Amino acid sequence: MKNFVSVKDVPDINFLIRMALDYKANPFKDKGAGVNKRIGLLFLNPSMRTRLSTQIAAANLGMEAVVFNVGQEGWALEFEDETIMSGTTVEHVKDAAPVLGKYFDILGIRTFPSLKNKEEDYSELYIRQFMKYSGIPVVSLESATLHPLQSLADIITISETFKEKRKPKIVLTWAPHVKALPQCVANSFSQWVNAWGAADFVITHPEDYHLDKEFTQHASIVLNQDEALKNADFVYVKNWSTYTDYGRIYCNDPKWMLTNEKLQRTNNARVMHCLPVRRNVELSDEILDSPASLVTQQAGNRVWAAQAVLAEMLKSGK
Ligand code: CP
Repeated sequence: MKNFVSVKDVPDINFLIRMALDYKANPFKDKGAGVNKRIGLLFLNPSMRTRLSTQIAAANLGMEAVVFNVGQEGWALEFEDETIMSGTTVEHVKDAAPVLGKYFDILGIRTFPSLKNKEEDYSELYIRQFMKYSGIPVVSLESATLHPLQSLADIITISETFKEKRKPKIVLTWAPHVKALPQCVANSFSQWVNAWGAADFVITHPEDYHLDKEFTQHASIVLNQDEALKNADFVYVKNWSTYTDYGRIYCNDPKWMLTNEKLQRTNNARVMHCLPVRRNVELSDEILDSPASLVTQQAGNRVWAAQAVLAEMLKSGK
């Protein structure tokens, strides 16, 4: 696995899940895999879980991780080619990325979408430019449209929690929020669940919140949340802004927030969220503080997801 920016980079999801669970049982079993290797973790946007879990994963493999909060501490980067840089940007990615390619063996990048220009966001300009100009393998720490390390941790969590012989029913439900948020987590979760193929997958959201079909593919879209939740084994809660009329908040009906009453319709579903979460806006206290919640386990699994991905990337680099 040279790069890791989408599920399309993964030859075998189940193999990666098994690897991650092996690392969870024995974190230091490949302590030598990353010795004398260095990963640069570039954050153009804030992070807690992704930053810390990837640093820990690298350390578990004996690899040095250097964090650079470009968004706060670095030069303002330009990403458009052939532009006249007479505005606020100071350095072109075409100049910065090759330098990073000299410093590191692997580059991790976190960028968010503008939510203003759909074509630009969905072209993944920022991460593509780093891939084009750094000359080294790139791992997405969340991009404009996807969050693959999160999705791998989500699938690992479902995999280790669900012990029945049948396929689980997984429901991704839209939830209210005070801000317009990216579609990344919902896109990415959909993409991974579809590629994994080991679940019945339903997506529920208000009328205006359809996601890009490229990611939802053959998932059932059920606009009635109560109907969608019936017999669910897992409910993944996430807000996203509108995709069609891009980056807006239309309906923000608090009735879409998951409660214990709604959970009654499910098959004792476990509830997931990538965090950070706005309590009692996106998800209720009564669920987050209950045994139904998997959010801490999910966030914990970010370490093992990152460790499996970095180990595979290190193998490809040999
Ligand atoms: N879920 C997630 O990516 O969390 P952070 O933004 O804190 O990294």
